[in-house]
Amino acid sequence: MLGTLLSWLFLGLQASSVSAGSEPSAAHSLVWGPGLQSDVVLPARYFFIQAVDEAGVNHTSSPGENTYEVKIADPGEQFSRIWVQVLDRRDGSFLVRYRMYASYSALTIEVLQKGVHVAKSPYRLKGPVYHEACDCPQPRADVWLKHMRCPDSVPQIEQDLSYFPRVDPESLAKEVPHRFGQRQSLCHYTIKDNQIYIKTHGEHVGFRIFMDAFLLSLSRKVKLPDMEFFVNLGDWPLEKRKPSEKLHPIFSWCGSNDSRDIVMPTYDLTESILETMGRVSLDMMSVQANTGPPWEEKNSTAFWRGRDSRKERLELVKLSRAHPDLVDAALTNFFFFKHDESLYGPIVKHVSFFDFFKYKYQVNVDGTVAAYRLPYLLAGGSVVLKQDSGYYEHFYSQLQPWEHYIPIRRDLGDLLDKIHWARENDSEARRIAEAGQQFARTHLMGDNVFCYYFKLFQEYAARQVSEPKVREGMEKVEQPKDDLFPCSCHRLRAKDEL
Ligand SMILES: *[C@@H]1O[C@H](CO)[C@@H](O)[C@H](O)[C@H]1NC(C)=O
Ligand SMILES: *[C@@H]1O[C@H](CO)[C@@H](O)[C@H](O)[C@H]1NC(C)=O
Ligand SMILES: *[C@@H]1O[C@H](CO)[C@@H](O)[C@H](O)[C@H]1NC(C)=O
Ligand SMILES: *[C@@H]1O[C@H](CO)[C@@H](O)[C@H](O)[C@H]1NC(C)=O
Repeated sequence: MLGTLLSWLFLGLQASSVSAGSEPSAAHSLVWGPGLQSDVVLPARYFFIQAVDEAGVNHTSSPGENTYEVKIADPGEQFSRIWVQVLDRRDGSFLVRYRMYASYSALTIEVLQKGVHVAKSPYRLKGPVYHEACDCPQPRADVWLKHMRCPDSVPQIEQDLSYFPRVDPESLAKEVPHRFGQRQSLCHYTIKDNQIYIKTHGEHVGFRIFMDAFLLSLSRKVKLPDMEFFVNLGDWPLEKRKPSEKLHPIFSWCGSNDSRDIVMPTYDLTESILETMGRVSLDMMSVQANTGPPWEEKNSTAFWRGRDSRKERLELVKLSRAHPDLVDAALTNFFFFKHDESLYGPIVKHVSFFDFFKYKYQVNVDGTVAAYRLPYLLAGGSVVLKQDSGYYEHFYSQLQPWEHYIPIRRDLGDLLDKIHWARENDSEARRIAEAGQQFARTHLMGDNVFCYYFKLFQEYAARQVSEPKVREGMEKVEQPKDDLFPCSCHRLRAKDEL
């Protein structure tokens, strides 16, 4: 009886929200974002559309995924090699992304609703508009930072570098390989005149491809400071000395409470940005268009899938077996704890990340180090239950428990209580989910990551007290030569003409 009443109310609410969100108004709708600026060069450029009705009220659910048509072309060319995608975020807003395969002398971006221009469409980008592969660095760091709207300061960078007021490339070049080079996998990079040089140490150096690719990409966009630094290619942070001892600056993808490594955005996030609309299918943009059913229709069982890379992950599977009504957790792979398959198996089929968001509650448990999936989990519109952890990524210090996620104890001892809490305080849990999503949308996109790395390099380089040098045994990391559409960089051209 009550159930029927509730479902009537529910249907009533749904109906009214549908009628409130009738046709958006082309004139009132909003279009904004970095993809409307020629100077914001990214692997995939992007901007947003917010559907707004005649009365000036934002739509809060999708007005239909084909509401908007976006056309991007160089008005002076017959064919423009640009791939455009309009992603429906189903909250009344859309993310438009485009990848350019050549550079253009100008671009016109038309945003149309049934053939009518939306907001201030058409947008005209004054050229040159460079594509990702174009080697055309902005020589002035301050100009690039302003175009990219990078933040003035980043607390995590300041914190990490506070242990290194002076950096001496001359002594680091000897001491770091001596201290770590035998047993760890490290890359020694020198950047000189915006060219990149490398020497690797250790056996397993395959992951250097991520760092190489990112440095090449960044150096095509902005002139990097001369600098010399070491990148740790392994999972675990390395500098475990006490601050009172002599510390060595090591750049790592993951930080931890008991080490002093300098943290960078993970190789996973970085690669997904470089390969957006390419080889990688999960990235911070595609995830926004695949957030599953609306909150009310999400399953209220907590969800988790992953490898057996940490003991707590096994604990989580045990909890799930004991309380299947509260937690659906299973391993997709046994590698670290094979002998325990009888207790924690059977392994289940891999679940597409987008299907995670059929569930309201996402459990984030460390793997070998921090679980690099957190950026995607936050972006998905479910609420994240995050295990307390000594490991962190470059953005964790900006996240607040109970604001962006629900904290759970390291040993998962309070996970069931927290799920109960979330079920009983649904609107509160939903608010946290939305704040986490908003954070991901505004702090973990490609431009944010490019800004982070550049600010980090700039601040680090400023601390150097001896001249960075191309050391013996270093090889040059070359820009890829296989680009089908070479560009002509106006900055280089101008130099030639002098
Ligand atoms: C409508 O959406 C825009 C874009 O997301 C946002 O800036 C604005 O605050 C929203 N307006 C209201 C009243 O929520
Ligand atoms: C919610 O998910 C659980 C675990 O995957 C499943 O057993 C249950 O049937 C689902 N509930 C609904 C209503 O679909
Ligand atoms: C690590 O440090 C963070 C921030 O100070 C803290 O919230 C967290 O509890 C610490 N975790 C562990 C396991 O030490
Ligand atoms: C959460 O739910 C509990 C139990 O229903 C209630 O006592 C408490 O006030 C709620 N807390 C918040 C923050 O809404």
